[in-house]
Amino acid sequence: MTISFNDRVAIVTGAGGGLGRAYALELARRGARVVVNDLGATLDGTGHSDAALAVVEEIRAAGGEAMANGGSVTDAAQMAEMAAKAKEAWGGVHILINNAGILRDKSFAKMEPGDFESVVRVHLFGAAFATKAVWETMREQGYGRVLMTTSSTGLGGNFGQANYGAAKLGMVGLAKTLYLEGAKYNIRVNSLAPTAGTRMTEDIFPEEAFKAFNPESVVPAALYLVSDDAPTNAIVGAGAGVYQSAWLTMNQGTLLPEDQRTVEGFAAAWDRISDRTGDAVVQNGIEQSMHAMQMLQKAAAK
Ligand SMILES: NC(=O)c1ccc[n+]([C@@H]2O[C@H](COP(=O)([O-])OP(=O)(O)OC[C@H]3O[C@@H](n4cnc5c(N)ncnc54)[C@H](O)[C@@H]3O)[C@@H](O)[C@H]2O)c1
Repeated sequence: MTISFNDRVAIVTGAGGGLGRAYALELARRGARVVVNDLGATLDGTGHSDAALAVVEEIRAAGGEAMANGGSVTDAAQMAEMAAKAKEAWGGVHILINNAGILRDKSFAKMEPGDFESVVRVHLFGAAFATKAVWETMREQGYGRVLMTTSSTGLGGNFGQANYGAAKLGMVGLAKTLYLEGAKYNIRVNSLAPTAGTRMTEDIFPEEAFKAFNPESVVPAALYLVSDDAPTNAIVGAGAGVYQSAWLTMNQGTLLPEDQRTVEGFAAAWDRISDRTGDAVVQNGIEQSMHAMQMLQKAAAK
């Protein structure tokens, strides 16, 4: 079975290098027409270059179709203009990979408010603005595939990355409501936590690991998650050929009798409250209150 992207129009943000470039090249190789977005920033988000244009030239040289876009994901108007150009040229937008990113790593004690704000702006606001720019088109088409780039830092934390982790788990939160709102329009929304040797990680990975964690080994996960048969609401990890799934779960919890609903009562019940027996994946935010209602009803029926 070959997974094709013929007749699909894809936008990949931050595709002037690293992972985004690898996604754009493979999407184009498999038949998609690709908007290569990148403002060509340095790692901390400053500066400009023609990085997007270089990737478009690579795609064209290999016989594919692509257009460059130098807009910033932090500018909603530029994202709207990018989506409009793609639609005008190619008739629609079917796939969006929110991949653009920057880093301003510092311990929280040393992190300036500006460092926090710029990182959240690029990752979280950027993903929201780019998705907003294509959302109506996807709804009208009755087809859309959106991928959020999250991170192990968002899912588990990492020293020195409070800004980045907050933004990255925020993107999963965004995906979790968009998958619900998009479902009836055949819009599927997933999240991918990649690990790859790129300029973002070159100071962290030793040379051997840098090679093993090549961006190409993340590509299969990213492309499957934006393909026709993609799941929705998945959180996937990919790096060095290892592919994983992550979930947000909640346990069954316990119903405290009214006279125990005190700080001391809560403290005394902590072992039961934090017991993971019967953990279940949360599919919809409403489940928490429904579960509480069911427990109340069960208790009342006794
Ligand atoms: N490399 C990893 O191990 C790793 C791990 C977890 C998550 N990620 C995420 O994967 C994504 C890609 O990272 P990468 O490792 O390829 O790094 P990268 O620095 O090569 O790619 C990020 C790209 O985003 C572009 N960009 C930055 N700000 C932008 C803006 N405002 N508008 C448009 N483009 C902008 C940059 O110019 C750059 O080309 C990022 O979201 C990153 O946080 C990477």
